[in-house]
Amino acid sequence: MQSETTVLDRSDIQGFVLRGYRMPHAAYLFYRFTDGPAARKWLADMVDPVTTAEEWDAAPSWCANVALTYPGLEALDLPTESLDSFPAAFRQGMAARAAEHLGDVGDDLLGNWEPEPPFASRGVHAMLMLSAHERGELEQRVRAFRERAGAGGGLEEVGCEHAAALGGAHAEREHFGFRDGISQPVLRGSGLEEHAPPGRPPVKPGEFLLGHPDERDAVSALHPALLGRNGTYAVYRKLSQDVPAFRRFLHAEGRGDPDLLAAKLMGRWPSGAPLALAERADDPLLASCAKHNNAFDYLHDELGFCCPRGAHVRRAHPRTGSPSERRHLLIRRGLPYGPELDDGASDDGADRGLVGVFLNASIERQYEFVQREWINAPDFDGLQDDPDPIAGPGGGTFTWQGRRPRWLRGLPRFVTVRGGEYFFVPSITALRLLSDTPAP
Ligand code: HEM
Repeated sequence: MQSETTVLDRSDIQGFVLRGYRMPHAAYLFYRFTDGPAARKWLADMVDPVTTAEEWDAAPSWCANVALTYPGLEALDLPTESLDSFPAAFRQGMAARAAEHLGDVGDDLLGNWEPEPPFASRGVHAMLMLSAHERGELEQRVRAFRERAGAGGGLEEVGCEHAAALGGAHAEREHFGFRDGISQPVLRGSGLEEHAPPGRPPVKPGEFLLGHPDERDAVSALHPALLGRNGTYAVYRKLSQDVPAFRRFLHAEGRGDPDLLAAKLMGRWPSGAPLALAERADDPLLASCAKHNNAFDYLHDELGFCCPRGAHVRRAHPRTGSPSERRHLLIRRGLPYGPELDDGASDDGADRGLVGVFLNASIERQYEFVQREWINAPDFDGLQDDPDPIAGPGGGTFTWQGRRPRWLRGLPRFVTVRGGEYFFVPSITALRLLSDTPAP
């Protein structure tokens, strides 16, 4: 058993696991392996370019990261013992588990997914994530990695997604206009503990990294143990956002204060200031203070008069202080995709949304639980017909609690799943194992 003070080996962990890159440009390249040995050679060639959490400290201008699906691991001819050591959720993949385990309904289901990349048919074996500060740099890297992939044979590109931070005053915001990426769990032993907000101690690394003790001191391991240690799982979800519908709703139902309604739906003001600390008006100064902006809970607001009980951030992380809640945390990476719709502009018909990359050590206990029980469930926290008003399937009610409560019924759907898959994010050691590359 490891001691409580284990310092994580950052040179063995892919960089984006411990810290968001905050690079404004990203490309996600999806591959299908057509030949096991050649795919292993490609993976061996990726060991060096992959950005580790240690290299990230040197502030590189671009980063590369790799993740694999279960069919990808099968195509690499992993021994049965190793394949069988992966949990059922990862082996089955998102498409098979969407209805029952994620609680997806209606337009979120497979029949409506984009044909490329072929997530619905499990035709994706690997994902290469490239990030850069400059768009030109990103494009150059995409070209270089495509050449590298093409040269060796053994894999076929089956899809590509570009994502980019929104421009100008909207940098760091998602398409609905809210600042995003504020609240993230901090891992013990990561060297980043000082960033944990007051009252929210860092979590044990096993909640996000295999091979380490989690909050219950259990260790998730694969076979062999080195395959899992320092690795994690990434849930990739392409979420289309209907921005015109969201803005129409705010204006139609906002009674002259669309920002207040937006804040009630989200639980944070567009600036990022939480309703729990800024009940009546936005507080941009608070929003700019990373630590205090996250130092709150809802214990003084059980009835939801300040932050509605069904608001997105409250249900995605109810902050009840219960130890069991620390078993359902998510690290969120990803960026917006599609063109920004200027304030006041009419519906341009373009597709836009969020490339969501959610990290966790247990897809079943963390991502699937949060999506099914907290986001999609209409009866969350004693509510009756209230799925998540932002990221839920629409159609229900949004209850605006208060001395004079309001019920906004027949909520439109604002977010629709366009596809997704479960990926294993190997450590550097595991990348070597998978590609038969000896350690240096
Ligand atoms: C397009 C869909 C979505 C949008 C626009 C969106 C937007 C946001 C925004 C603006 C925040 C507040 C910023 C922050 O606290 O960092 C947030 C927080 C969060 N979201 Fe979402 N989100 C979406 C989907 C999801 C999904 C599908 C999940 C999980 C299944 C999720 C889980 C979370 C979590 C865990 C938090 C942090 C809550 C906290 O710690 O207080 N979100 N989201």
